[in-house]
Amino acid sequence: MLELLDAKGKKIEFFVEKEKIEISDAEAECFLQQDIRGVWAIFYEKCREKYLKKNPNIERLESDLYRNGVEHIASVLSDKDVTLVRSIIENSSVFHTFPRSSGSNVTEEADVNVTYTAQHIEINAEAKIKIYPLLYRILNNETVKKIESLMQSYFAIDHIFFSRTYPDADPIVSFRWHRDAGPKFQTHIMVYLSDSEETGGRTEFINYHYSGCVELSGYAGNKNIERRATDLKYIVPDMEVIAPKPRAGDIIIFNATQIYHQGIHPNTGYRDVMFIILRPDMMSWSKSVDLKKVFSHPRGLALFSQNPFSNYATLTRY
Ligand SMILES: [Fe+2]
Repeated sequence: MLELLDAKGKKIEFFVEKEKIEISDAEAECFLQQDIRGVWAIFYEKCREKYLKKNPNIERLESDLYRNGVEHIASVLSDKDVTLVRSIIENSSVFHTFPRSSGSNVTEEADVNVTYTAQHIEINAEAKIKIYPLLYRILNNETVKKIESLMQSYFAIDHIFFSRTYPDADPIVSFRWHRDAGPKFQTHIMVYLSDSEETGGRTEFINYHYSGCVELSGYAGNKNIERRATDLKYIVPDMEVIAPKPRAGDIIIFNATQIYHQGIHPNTGYRDVMFIILRPDMMSWSKSVDLKKVFSHPRGLALFSQNPFSNYATLTRY
């Protein structure tokens, strides 16, 4: 077996939590040639191989998530659950704010004199414990089946954050059509905590087929996301936009790195959403979930700067 070292000369261990992963010498050779995208691709194939070995007769579920890359499921959380999460957010005092057009320029404290388009809200330890049981309601049998069927793999919660979006006439980066940078099946669950009909705050999506058309058009080649068009009808004329209108307690699951999506700012009030970021994994999410880790994800640490074989180990290139 080859010994693999990362860019800092540290030995790379092929472990995910307590599971050792079998990597052949040929795979290790391939691993060494890749940048982090390729490493995630190898990791995904290992996850898929394991899942299909454990579930040899699994049938593909013909869900909206599988067909279009996005699915709206109503009333996953009860009114009582929504009230609980909303009160946790209201009582939180730590906000990471995203001033207009700042991109990744994140500040620590809310400034009343600046127009904010979005804020990430940090919750305390007690609140994390209160939210924990809700994860099982969100990731119930139905949603787990749909996500596993999409990925053909088990998945883990990479991290969770709370986002509050405000009305703004000049939307920032994530509010133009884009796909997230990340591994193939990085899948996001947006748990709506406010009614989109009431605030106007929501997200629109384009299915796999039309996302491919947008990709081939060269639209995304414009790296300045703020200068991207919000209406793509002149680029892909027959394109259909999927525009769910979720209510508080509904969830939207979408394949964030493969389908295009754009946020619509609220007209009034604010849009509160709990984001659950999922990624393929070697075992069922409930076996790997770690309350400390999922809610305390290092800000700005995208999956492509993590070594999938060793969570949170920063790794850029071998
Ligand atoms: Fe996104």
